[in-house]
Amino acid sequence: MTAPPPVGAPPAVEKEKDERKPAKQKIDPWNVAGEVDEGGNVKAIDYDRLIEDFGVQPLTRAHLDRFEKVTGKPAHRLMRRKLFFSHRDFDKILDYYEQHGQFMLYTGRGPSSGSMHLGHTVPFLFTKELQELFDVPLVIMLTDDEKFLHTRNKNEGQMKAGSAPEDFLNFAHDNARDIIALGFDPKKTFMYSDYEFLGGHFYRNVSEFESMVTYNQASGAFGFNESTNIGLISFMAKQCVAAFPSSYPDLFGLPDYRAPDYDSSAKRRHKELASIPCLIPCAIDQEPYFRMVRDRSERMHDPHPKPALIMSKFLTALQGPGGKMSASDPNSAIFMSDSPAQIKNKINKHAFSGGQQTEEEHRRLGGNPDVDVAFTYLSYFLEDDAELEDLAKRYRAGEILTGEMKAKCISFVQGFVADFQKRREGVTEEVMREFMRPRRLVYGGNPNPVKKQKESSDGWAGAGSEAVGGGEGKEGKEGRGTKGERKAAKLAEKKAEKEAEKLALREKS
Ligand code: TYM
Repeated sequence: MTAPPPVGAPPAVEKEKDERKPAKQKIDPWNVAGEVDEGGNVKAIDYDRLIEDFGVQPLTRAHLDRFEKVTGKPAHRLMRRKLFFSHRDFDKILDYYEQHGQFMLYTGRGPSSGSMHLGHTVPFLFTKELQELFDVPLVIMLTDDEKFLHTRNKNEGQMKAGSAPEDFLNFAHDNARDIIALGFDPKKTFMYSDYEFLGGHFYRNVSEFESMVTYNQASGAFGFNESTNIGLISFMAKQCVAAFPSSYPDLFGLPDYRAPDYDSSAKRRHKELASIPCLIPCAIDQEPYFRMVRDRSERMHDPHPKPALIMSKFLTALQGPGGKMSASDPNSAIFMSDSPAQIKNKINKHAFSGGQQTEEEHRRLGGNPDVDVAFTYLSYFLEDDAELEDLAKRYRAGEILTGEMKAKCISFVQGFVADFQKRREGVTEEVMREFMRPRRLVYGGNPNPVKKQKESSDGWAGAGSEAVGGGEGKEGKEGRGTKGERKAAKLAEKKAEKEAEKLALREKS
């Protein structure tokens, strides 16, 4: 007779244990797996090792202090708890914002399914908070093309039912609605599907970037081989140049040269956009893309500052800390479309427990919240530090049982997902299309930048916060539209100026 499984241990992990061969941990945009030891056990992802392997920097208390000083607000709970744990040039972005008043935020989603999972909400909720604090423009890229190419590659060149380009475009629309339901401000946010938007200045940046990457470099960073389709090999240039504000002149009130206007005066890159820096919040699996862009951004014909990054750990799979919650494994994930009963069932059945085998042992020895999935999920979402600390303490002391921790997690996640689903119902096609319309974004940035010189001391060119800054309601020098429309806009602007002058005179007299 085989021994009963430990309390809370998911059957899937038990079953796979013997089948797994020893392997190093593997983290890249398409694979997230902890090390597998000689006994076939999957280990937790070693984030300290990742910091070393990827050559990124740890996010320290000093960064949090600096963040609090610049924003005047406490650091986000995900930073306080080291769930956002690493960065590149985050300190430079803070300096830049303090001095010049703006930067561009950029993040994204590869729409691989019609619903996002709980883990995907992590970088988006964090980004939303950064956008509110800094009052800066945000672009959200939906890489429907990447997911089509990756899926076809995974299926060894076959295009299976439900995985044609239009299927991924539909997922992009579904996911766009999910993202909007997290509460982004349409005035400051532009979201796009690659299949719908790529062209104009974006595509010319893609082309220039592609010319700087060899096959060897791409396969070195992403592990491609001779059988990888060439679409996937070259895709990365798109995710890279999406970090350049010069890819989106419309958002900054400058003209693009694409259809339907073909404004030939706008063919040359807008240099003032090339100098605006960018901050990318994401989980650390996306780092290989941004290593590529950082290595090449200053070699663009108009040099762009290296994009800065702030990176999180993965919300773990239900099965435990050796993998990430993943849309391709439904049992590993709680989807934002799950019903309360599904959430309850998944957590009760699959969530790995840090508790002891029996209640008696648990009371005596206590549990381990560090590996307990229910506690881990709460640590991402519960705002109150003291409440979380208390839960951990009482779990360690054996006062809280596994079942009780799971019940707390279930009730929290059910509430979070239900609120989300209610908001998502209100995201109509019209609302979605407004987010996806290229248009001038309206944002204020830092109202009191301390110095506005053209060259900053750290080598980042003084971006045109003066030249292309948002400013609540301010219209750009040359908004998008036909020449006639721009002329009319200029006349209207002059008229408004005259009226303001008249009003001022009247007030004086
Ligand atoms: P995708 O769809 O795999 O993931 C979307 C975002 O969610 C993060 N993520 C997670 N975060 C926490 N826990 C998890 N279990 C988890 N799984 C995924 C990802 O790191 C990402 O931030 N190619 C990208 C789309 C993309 C993008 C970007 C992402 C385009 N441009 C810029 C970030 C930044 C993708 O397929 O993401």
